[in-house]
Amino acid sequence: MDDQELIRLAIEARTKAYAPYSHFHVGAALLAADGTVYQGCNIENAAYTPSNCAERTAFFKAVSEGCRAFAAIAIVGGPEGGSLQLTAPCGVCRQVMMEFCDPGTFRILMADESGQRKEYLLKDLMPESFSAADLNLCTEEE
Ligand code: THU
Repeated sequence: MDDQELIRLAIEARTKAYAPYSHFHVGAALLAADGTVYQGCNIENAAYTPSNCAERTAFFKAVSEGCRAFAAIAIVGGPEGGSLQLTAPCGVCRQVMMEFCDPGTFRILMADESGQRKEYLLKDLMPESFSAADLNLCTEEE
């Protein structure tokens, strides 16, 4: 699975976005350590706060299928019917990534319509973060 293919899968996932309120469509493709890819889109709600970002949709699909080890996520977003623009994960999604990913190795890829890309490690998007390690807990099986 190369980065280009992961971005293509994020673009594919974006076609499923349900965003009748913001009209901003986002897709994500989450690469698990075992090579499986979990796709996600944003899913909005008339009550607004129950809305879910594309990244968390992908994570929650994966974790609910028993997967907890991840290598990278590709994210694409843009206005409905418009061009893709570089779209960074929101703070809540970054916190969810912190729960399941190694911040020193987990890669976050963004791409726009022109082919411009940005890539970050989670640690660089989430400095001075709070995670399970601060509670002296871990997410491993007990
Ligand atoms: N959104 C995502 O799904 N991921 C992001 O990285 C940024 C924002 C969604 C949430 C909401 O449905 C819409 O985009 C506008 O904020």
